[in-house]
Amino acid sequence: MENQAQTYPAADASVAPDTSGTLDPLAALRLMLDETPADAVPVVPLDAEACDAITDDTLVCSCNNVSAGEIRGVVCSGVCSSLDDVQVLTRAGGGCGSCLPTVAGLVEVTLSRRGGC
Ligand code: FES
Repeated sequence: MENQAQTYPAADASVAPDTSGTLDPLAALRLMLDETPADAVPVVPLDAEACDAITDDTLVCSCNNVSAGEIRGVVCSGVCSSLDDVQVLTRAGGGCGSCLPTVAGLVEVTLSRRGGC
């Protein structure tokens, strides 16, 4: 017997989720894939006072080895102008996500003071 690639129909967003109590694994997977972590848990940035207490050599993201100074540097230089930009460039917050409030706070505070970088 020859192996053939299995094809599945595209997810139809107009179809309401099955609430009948039966388990449809593919429908459940489609719902999970449509929900990004950013949608599920909003990031609350660390406040300015707490961010100011973080020195540039402090390791903020241990998953991806990113320091506070690196985050401030890419924002001050103008290379990054948003949390998304910083995440893409440095990969900060791209692992476990526990550093995201700190990364978001550093980005927010640095952007607000960019003229003083
Ligand atoms: S510590 Fe930054 S993603 Fe885990």
